[in-house]
Amino acid sequence: MQDLFAEQLKALRARSLDRHLSEIGTAQGPEIEIPGRKLLNLSSNDYLGLANDSRLREAAIAAVGEFGVGAGASRLISGTQSPHLRLERALVEWKGTEAALCFSSGYAAVLGSIPALVTKNDVVLLDKLCHASLIAAAKLSRARLRVFPHNNLRKLESHLEWARREHSGKRVLIVTESVFSMDGDRAPLRELVQLKKPFDALLMLDEAHAVGVIGPHGRGLAAAENLSDDVDVQMGTLSKALGTSGGYICGSRNLVDWLINRAPSFIYSTAPPPAIAAAALAAVNFLASPEGEERRLLLWKKIRLMRKLLLSLDVGRWMFKCCRQTLNAQLKRSWQCDLSVARWR
Ligand SMILES: Cc1ncc(COP(=O)(O)O)c(C=O)c1O
Repeated sequence: MQDLFAEQLKALRARSLDRHLSEIGTAQGPEIEIPGRKLLNLSSNDYLGLANDSRLREAAIAAVGEFGVGAGASRLISGTQSPHLRLERALVEWKGTEAALCFSSGYAAVLGSIPALVTKNDVVLLDKLCHASLIAAAKLSRARLRVFPHNNLRKLESHLEWARREHSGKRVLIVTESVFSMDGDRAPLRELVQLKKPFDALLMLDEAHAVGVIGPHGRGLAAAENLSDDVDVQMGTLSKALGTSGGYICGSRNLVDWLINRAPSFIYSTAPPPAIAAAALAAVNFLASPEGEERRLLLWKKIRLMRKLLLSLDVGRWMFKCCRQTLNAQLKRSWQCDLSVARWR
């Protein structure tokens, strides 16, 4: 048993593809410490610096005092505590949708909802650069899966025509991200919405890297483009710009009621800790406030500054062209500059 994965690990190491964990002895923030070293943190998704914000910490501490640390059960059994419902009400107001449902992570939100939306004979059309969670969820659904080249609307259209021709009457779900996690560019949302309509396809938008950063009060790309009502399934995570953890789906009341009844990662998993829901509520309230808007605008100021700085080095463009993945992997999570890096191309 001990040797079971030894050969495979050796092969990974030989190709320098092995991954490691590094211990961080401090809270998330611009500076972190790993044992014996102080480092500038250029690799976090904590875009707005909320992960260690006093407002969120105090909300979590107060909720621990009132509700304890564990939710005790799945939401459908006895785990729906007031902080979960308060958070969902705040998400509804912030995102301007009919309903919202929280999950213990963004990954769980995706993994639970896609298989609830489409099944064996349906069709999922996925952008090639979609996050691993979306790919895993699409496979789990057992729907027919077609991948279209990144942001390629012409190919997507031909997939939609194929679906209508070969699988008429079946549900078609288009899945994409608003800000792509690795390349940092955006989906052409308006064109996607126009394209899906005549095909009666559903559109699911993963706003993981857009909420908190884009749109009025950080409501994301759909809100920024005034297309909230046209995006059927708005997914997001509380674990990046919102500084806590958890994921959510926003959309119609019927969609959320369906997920409560059919999303396995919601039904069969213990509810998120109430203190985390309370901290996430504080984050949503912050984003919706004038102070939150100010922080978001400051972020964009820093994005512009970072872009200018790197371009002035005269290696910025070259670096981005030659080692886009590496640069992005290092910068995208850093100092909130992934979005700007993407704009360079
Ligand atoms: C685009 C995208 N979707 C979903 C997720 C998963 O979210 P979470 O980290 O909350 O599980 C991530 C996380 O990296 C992501 O980048």
